[in-house]
Amino acid sequence: MNRKLLVAGNWKMHGSLTFVREMMADFNTMLPVGINYDVAVFPVYIHLYEVINKKPEQVMCGAQNLSEYDDGAVTGEVSGGMLSDLGCDMVLVGHSERRIKNNEDNTEVAKKFAQALKYGLQPILCVGESAVQRQSEQTFTAVWAQIQAVIDEVGIEKLGRGIIAYEPVWAIGTGETATSEQAQEVHQFIRSQLALNDDTIARRIRILYGGSCKGSNAYELFSMPDVDGGLIGGASLTAQDFMAICQQADILSQGV
Ligand code: PGA
Repeated sequence: MNRKLLVAGNWKMHGSLTFVREMMADFNTMLPVGINYDVAVFPVYIHLYEVINKKPEQVMCGAQNLSEYDDGAVTGEVSGGMLSDLGCDMVLVGHSERRIKNNEDNTEVAKKFAQALKYGLQPILCVGESAVQRQSEQTFTAVWAQIQAVIDEVGIEKLGRGIIAYEPVWAIGTGETATSEQAQEVHQFIRSQLALNDDTIARRIRILYGGSCKGSNAYELFSMPDVDGGLIGGASLTAQDFMAICQQADILSQGV
């Protein structure tokens, strides 16, 4: 099954209105129309509107988080309905920085995944093991627990409407990228576990790799059979670096 590659830029808590305007101007000149792969960016909440209004049509826009609630007395949070109303296409759920710094557990992440779908947003479920878990051979167990919690909440069919991003915590922002073999091993594990639930969904769902992905390693990573693109942090913060990754996706998507 041919899965369309996705190059997704997670801007984290970076940027300014000037940054956003310059990036969108660069995207408009540098990104050709009619590409065979998908591109998305994830700015902070307050920059979403600017991105949505300035981005090229072929670029999707998403938020980095959403509330597990519909609305109400939840100071400082933003709901799925609000993101959808604004024109967002996607939303990240369970990024490891939120799991660690904001104590988001598997149950909360699963609820957020459900909220995203409820409001027509495509969730990208971020999963990944810590360095300690990898060293103690807990990688598969940790990653699967994160996915199983979402299946328990929404079922396999709804999980299949989202995207999974495998992001080993030890590779995020460290410059220490997983080798393409390490990435493939976990991606293949995820897909084979999903196949036990539903073979069609397992073959169709996109699984991105994230963690120090850049122009120089994107081709090798994205050419792995179970790697369907990347969630990019640091290398999404300049148009040049991000486009270098997009170019690799473009080469791999030729003739697809
Ligand atoms: P990085 O971040 O590319 O800077 O490692 C990836 C992510 O956190 O999504």
